[in-house]
Amino acid sequence: MGMKCSFSLLFLVLFFSRVDALFAHGLLHCQFTSPDDVVYLEQIFFNKVLQIQYNSTLGKYTGYTEKTKEIAEGLNKNPKFIKEEKKMN
Ligand SMILES: *[C@@H]1O[C@H](CO)[C@@H](O)[C@H](O)[C@H]1NC(C)=O
Repeated sequence: MGMKCSFSLLFLVLFFSRVDALFAHGLLHCQFTSPDDVVYLEQIFFNKVLQIQYNSTLGKYTGYTEKTKEIAEGLNKNPKFIKEEKKMN
């Protein structure tokens, strides 16, 4: 689980690193909401502001700025990519 999470996060950080590597950081949570239920969360921040988040309960990306809304929409439209994310659970 941990390895798969890290791989996915790395993918996103690389994806964003062209924009602003210095101020970007990612947070990854595998929250256990109950013994059988794990919420998988990925959050990418720039300048400490949340830019984009994947929530496995919703099963999609949510963008918080004009730019990341577009990116999130693109990622959500990519069935292959979303399938990969869902496999993480
Ligand atoms: C993830 O999505 C679920 C369902 O909408 C929501 O209840 C939960 O609060 C979300 N988690 C975060 C950290 O946004």
